Amino acid sequence: MNVSSMPYRVLHPFTYMDDPRTLTVGAMHQQYVCLKGGKGSWVYDDNGNSYLYLTTAVPTLGLGDERVLERILDQYKTLSFASTCAQSHSLVQPLAEKLLALADGPFAAVFFANDGSGAVETGMKLARQYWMRRGKPSRTKFVSLAGSYHGTTFGAGAVTHMGIREQFGPTLPGCLQAPAPNLFHPPVEGEEESVVRYCLDQLEALIVREGAETIAAILIEPIQGVNGVVLFPDDYWQGLVKLIRHYGILLIADEVATGVGRTGHWLASHRYRLEPDLLILSKGLTGGYFPMGATLISRHIMETLYTGGGIFLHGSTMCGHPVGCAAALSVLTIMEQERLVERADTLGSWMLAEWRRMLKDHPQVGEIRGMGMMLAIEFVSDQASRRPVTSEWAQSFTRQLRSEGILGNFFNSTLAMFPPLTLTEKEAEFVVHGVVQAVHRAGRCSR
Ligand SMILES: Cc1ncc(COP(=O)(O)O)c(C=O)c1O
Repeated sequence: MNVSSMPYRVLHPFTYMDDPRTLTVGAMHQQYVCLKGGKGSWVYDDNGNSYLYLTTAVPTLGLGDERVLERILDQYKTLSFASTCAQSHSLVQPLAEKLLALADGPFAAVFFANDGSGAVETGMKLARQYWMRRGKPSRTKFVSLAGSYHGTTFGAGAVTHMGIREQFGPTLPGCLQAPAPNLFHPPVEGEEESVVRYCLDQLEALIVREGAETIAAILIEPIQGVNGVVLFPDDYWQGLVKLIRHYGILLIADEVATGVGRTGHWLASHRYRLEPDLLILSKGLTGGYFPMGATLISRHIMETLYTGGGIFLHGSTMCGHPVGCAAALSVLTIMEQERLVERADTLGSWMLAEWRRMLKDHPQVGEIRGMGMMLAIEFVSDQASRRPVTSEWAQSFTRQLRSEGILGNFFNSTLAMFPPLTLTEKEAEFVVHGVVQAVHRAGRCSR
């Protein structure tokens, strides 16, 4: 039996799977690209095609960076595993110090998790315990925004509002949704100012209705990534911060996608002056060289929980893995040395401006948006209704994009793109032109 006709044995996350009784390796690889290698900004598939890899915010430095690989290999040789449960190793403290310095905020400690969901989960548990310790055990609820994505574990999944948690029966109770000031699909008609006002009023009404004394924290993504790189107005963030401080609610900033330089700022929280009590990092933290997440904890939470000593009954076997720490330290050092955060800002702004210039009159281009190396184009079937494009158009566009040698992320009628921060000018031009070509070649969308 040749490999291609063998039954396919893997269940993929967030991937439509054909009938397992008939699905073969060949059919799966026909439907989805199967990667064989990768270097820098590029990946290579089974059939010898190369693609510029833009699908996820993970590879900040691109793939296969020799400097990171060398550091990782050294670490494997020195200490290939160590637990951080009632034990330590020589890299956790330096990495924590580095993250606290880059975050430049009121944080006093870092908890290391294995991924973004795990770090969000950690933040939610710390918020719950904080209120228990403060003698306010009724503060158990969490608020997050419509269109938010915070992960897939039961806690992180319960504060994700994208129609996912509904697939799994009863969820964590008390996870509430507030409207988001998405100006391209506003929850009410009106100008920016009135949409922002509406969302803040609704948030306050929700807090008052539920009772502020029942709410532990609000979780936010400074820019919604999975939902299609959705940015909210500055005034909304300032209003939100004011509201939650007024009602004594904790702020958890989920910077799994936006953090570690992706937006042209070390943290998007810096850009929006958010000053969260808990901050979540993952994807860019190791740039994909090792799975890792981190929860930065502010001083007042640490002191509430651990003054006089204490124990956090949470975590997993691989937390703070030394190879992950080595990868993160190496990635962060290179980012600083090469000033990649500034580069993300400059090159990302240039790409956005080029697309705005070249695609401004295209009937299917609804909005071109982004910050730094977090970029998106939302397509519409017509400008007036802003309804999504048809699945035929989406498929045709995705095919064209692939034939241009670009792997992006098409979801919800939006092409989201996350170039590595090391993208060269030439590669940026390649992406800009490839996307424009694919849009033109996909033709017109008719409903
Ligand atoms: C903002 C945000 N939070 C949390 C997560 C979950 O991270 P992970 O997939 O590593 O569990 C993601 C993943 O896309 C994310 O974008």
